[in-house]
Amino acid sequence: MKLENKNILITGASSGIGEALAGKLAKSNNLILVARNYEKLKLIKEQNETGKYKIFPVQCDVSKKTEVEEAYVKIKKKFTAVDIAILNSGVSYRMKVEKFNSGLAEEIFGTNVMGIIYWVEQLIKDFVRERKGTIVGVSSLAGNRGYSGSSFYSASKAAVSIYLEGLRNELKKYNVKVLTVKPGFVKTPMTDKNKFPMPFIISPEKAAGYIIRGIEKGKKIIAFPLPMVLIVKFIGALPVSVYDFLASKNKYE
Ligand SMILES: NC(=O)c1ccc[n+]([C@@H]2O[C@H](COP(=O)([O-])OP(=O)(O)OC[C@H]3O[C@@H](n4cnc5c(N)ncnc54)[C@H](OP(=O)(O)O)[C@@H]3O)[C@@H](O)[C@H]2O)c1
Repeated sequence: MKLENKNILITGASSGIGEALAGKLAKSNNLILVARNYEKLKLIKEQNETGKYKIFPVQCDVSKKTEVEEAYVKIKKKFTAVDIAILNSGVSYRMKVEKFNSGLAEEIFGTNVMGIIYWVEQLIKDFVRERKGTIVGVSSLAGNRGYSGSSFYSASKAAVSIYLEGLRNELKKYNVKVLTVKPGFVKTPMTDKNKFPMPFIISPEKAAGYIIRGIEKGKKIIAFPLPMVLIVKFIGALPVSVYDFLASKNKYE
C-alpha cells in the first residue's frame, strides 16, 4: 500500500516522531493531527500544508474518552473516512520507588494504553462496516521487560503490544489491518530528559521513515533500528535470575 492520497490520522503529532511523520506524509496525503497543544498543531499545518492536500488540527487529550469521542465527530464532519490511524501519543516518566506516585501510572497508562483504546473504539465502528482501514499503534522495544525506574512505562508498552496483537487477529476477518510499531531510542523531547546512555539513538525523521516504509510493506511489527532490536531480543531471552542480577547493577535508576 502506497501512502498517497490517503486520509491519515496521527495522534501525538505536535512533537517528536508524530511531528516528523506529519512532515513526511503531508506532501501526498490529507492529515488529521491530534494532540493537546493546538497552537503547535496549527504551526505544523502552516509549515506543511500544500495546495492539494489538507491538514486538519484537532485538539484532544487522548486519555479522556469524551474528548476522543468529540474529536472523532469533528473529523467525520470534515472527512468521509479515515484510511490509516497512527496512534502515537505517549508519555514517559521515570520514578524512584522511594518516591512512589501512582498518579504517574494513571497518566502513563491513561495516555499510552487508554489513549489507543479510546481511538480504536471510535475507528472500528467505521472500519468494520467498510471492511477496510489500518490501525498503527506505537508501542516500544522497552515493553519486552520491566526496566528499573521505568516500570510503569515498560508495563504500559507491554500492554499496548499485547493488546494490538489480540486486536490484529480479532479484526482480520473484517479486513482491518493492525500494525505495531516498536521503536528503540529516538531523539525527541521524551528522551532529551534521559540521563542514561541511549545506544543506537536515531532522529525522529529516520524513525518516521521506518514507520512509513513498514506501513507501505504491511509489516505486522515495525521494529527498529536493527542493532537495538537484536539487543532487546537478547535481553528478552535472558533467564530471570541473570536479568535480575544485571538490573541490580543498573546505576541509572
Ligand atoms: N523517543 C523514543 O525513544 C521512543 C521510543 C519508543 C517508543 N516511543 C513512543 O513513540 C511515541 C511518540 O513519542 P516521542 O518520542 O515522539 O515523544 P514526544 O516528542 O514527547 O511526543 C509525544 C506526543 O504525544 C502527545 N501526547 C502526550 N500526552 C497526550 C495526551 N494526553 N493526549 C494527546 N496527545 C498526547 C504529545 O502532544 P501534546 O503534549 O501536545 O498533547 C506529543 O505530540 C510515544 O508513544 C512513545 O512512547 C518513543
